[in-house]
Amino acid sequence: NLSDDRHRPQYHITAPANWLNDPNGLIHWNGEFHVFYQYNPGGPYHDTIHWGHAVSADLVHWEDRPVALTPSPDGPDRDGCWSGCAFDDDGTPRIMYTGGRGKLQLPCLATAADADLNTWQKDPENPIIDTLPVDPPLRSTEHWKAEFRDHNVWREGDTWYQLIGSGVEGGGGTALLYSSEDDELRQWYYEGPILTGDPEPDGAMWECPELLDLGEKQLLHISNYDEVRYYLGSYENGEFETEQTAQLDYGDFYAPQSLRADDGRILTWGWIWEARDERAQWDAGWSGALSLPRELDLNDRGLLRQRPARELESLRERHVHEGSRSLHDQWLDLDTDGLSYELSAEIKLDDAEAFEIVVGESPDGEERTPIRYTRDSELVVDRSHSSLDERASKAPDRMPIAPVDEPLSLRLFVDGSVVELFANERHCLTTRIYPTRGDSDNLSLHAKGGTVELLDLDVWELGRAWTESEELSGEQAPGQ
Ligand code: FRU
Repeated sequence: NLSDDRHRPQYHITAPANWLNDPNGLIHWNGEFHVFYQYNPGGPYHDTIHWGHAVSADLVHWEDRPVALTPSPDGPDRDGCWSGCAFDDDGTPRIMYTGGRGKLQLPCLATAADADLNTWQKDPENPIIDTLPVDPPLRSTEHWKAEFRDHNVWREGDTWYQLIGSGVEGGGGTALLYSSEDDELRQWYYEGPILTGDPEPDGAMWECPELLDLGEKQLLHISNYDEVRYYLGSYENGEFETEQTAQLDYGDFYAPQSLRADDGRILTWGWIWEARDERAQWDAGWSGALSLPRELDLNDRGLLRQRPARELESLRERHVHEGSRSLHDQWLDLDTDGLSYELSAEIKLDDAEAFEIVVGESPDGEERTPIRYTRDSELVVDRSHSSLDERASKAPDRMPIAPVDEPLSLRLFVDGSVVELFANERHCLTTRIYPTRGDSDNLSLHAKGGTVELLDLDVWELGRAWTESEELSGEQAPGQ
């Protein structure tokens, strides 16, 4: 029974059951936030992909809607409705997505058929791009004639643009630019790549490219099978000039997509994949969650800033506060219940070897996950004892952060199996843990080998964000 599953998040978006991957078609429409996602209603594995749909008025409480896109048996999306985006065409919501058919990846267009965005009319002219660019020659594989998928659409004046993810034969990943001046959005002209990476470290194929305007700078992020990389710099006349590149998240976070809220904020969600094997996902009956919405912008040093959406504060319930104090080689037990909380801390390492936040710990320490901040200015999520289940990953996650002589500000969200970390409003690490014991829910702090200055500490238990839609979960239970 999914509702008794302690690994299932309470305030992150999940599918009612079965498989979820990328967030898609994100749009703030008529005062509601619409999140679609890659969804297999047939089971907790990636197969014939539909678009699932969830809606929220406040970015915090979500409600399931019926499946929004289904592959058409005779259509260009016969084998799957893959990733794509939503956009506002002068008051008409449209989506551009990738249809999968055999060895082909085919750009497809659809238009909302109702104001709640529950149903979509596919364009009879699909696929709207039916020839592949020849310059540069695109990478093909045993499976695909060419890798040519995922869409990011925007408008400048009367011209529409879109990016499609791909890779160059014998080279690196690339984001291909197309333009259109067609009111029907059916005629697209190939402009060329806006940026091409090197196979190392950028990856040989770029999925889900997205270009975001952060005001003084532009941000391009791509997913390269392994990680999400971002490029911060300037975009002009079809060319992206990189000033700085890094990882957007150092953990199990992939294929993010963003929307621009009516108040101008950029809000980004990513797919949090599983860190347990297929067998375990099958037993659970569900797979995948979406991250919390993140606000992306520039800080006053012109660097990328990432913060959890401020609306999430409305989920805060029981509160534990610790004022400023020093911890000398000691443990501090925090009085919380369950696996649904937010911790906010500001600390300075002083002469300690490390500072640890230990989550998901059983009374005898058999299961435990230390989140460790070390003198090497590294944050490590040590999963070696996270779970007694052999099928769960034991690999550590690592993230480089600010030098130890500066205070570290941390926001940590724990939600069932999801652990999401924000460090100094800049660096993120999202990961998964699967404690098996019912009593593995202790939370404590540890100053190891010296003194840690605790400048501030708050913990809030967080409420449930999901409006149960019995009918829908029943209808879409695994194997049905
Ligand atoms: C990224 C991705 C996309 C594709 C979709 C298929 O995770 O592989 O490139 O459109 O997922 O589900």
